[in-house]
Amino acid sequence: MGRIVVLRIGHRFFRDSRVTTHVCLTARALGADGVIIADKEDKTVEATIREVGKRFGGHFSIESGKPWRKSVREWRRNGGKVVHLTAYGLSLPDVIQEIREPSGDLLVVVGSEKMPGEMFKLASWNVSITSQPMSEIGALAVFLDWYFEHRALDVIFPNAQIRIVPSHDRKSVEQVVPEGG
Ligand SMILES: C[S@@+](CC[C@H](N)C(=O)[O-])C[C@H]1O[C@@H](n2cnc3c(N)ncnc32)[C@H](O)[C@@H]1O
Repeated sequence: MGRIVVLRIGHRFFRDSRVTTHVCLTARALGADGVIIADKEDKTVEATIREVGKRFGGHFSIESGKPWRKSVREWRRNGGKVVHLTAYGLSLPDVIQEIREPSGDLLVVVGSEKMPGEMFKLASWNVSITSQPMSEIGALAVFLDWYFEHRALDVIFPNAQIRIVPSHDRKSVEQVVPEGG
């Protein structure tokens, strides 16, 4: 499988910080390799996600401020495919096999308020998670879970400082001893 990166379009400084942070956390937890926050630089969201990565491990990348059109065009020029998540797209179960087949790099685009109409033409696939309006976080979570066929739920992130110990009755966290330490 190639790299899978999420492109977050329409981020508004302050107003969308929490939702965009949750887009990033969801992408990271469910197996994506990174997020690009388009058009607006947001060092606060970047720092939050880097801190999570430092503590909980993995190799997740985050950048912000690059124009969305440039990101999509560069991705396609380098041979990658683009999935645009939208309530108006083709139903996920009908296209997921086709999306998985090329096994190259995949850019998954999610919006905020109004998505530029041009995005529908630039996408390799416009994909809906039900034909009902919902949240970009929910749509992204379902897409990644289908794409990875639930495998992201069992991944152990490398280079973690701390790890959550699953528990039925308490919050439990352990320090991870570095290899050779
Ligand atoms: C809260 S919605 C707003 C969409 C906006 N009203 C529009 O027409 O572009 C924000 C984002 O969530 C995602 N989204 C919402 N519903 C979806 C669905 N049913 N399937 C896939 N993605 C969805 C899309 O990426 C969308 O840009």
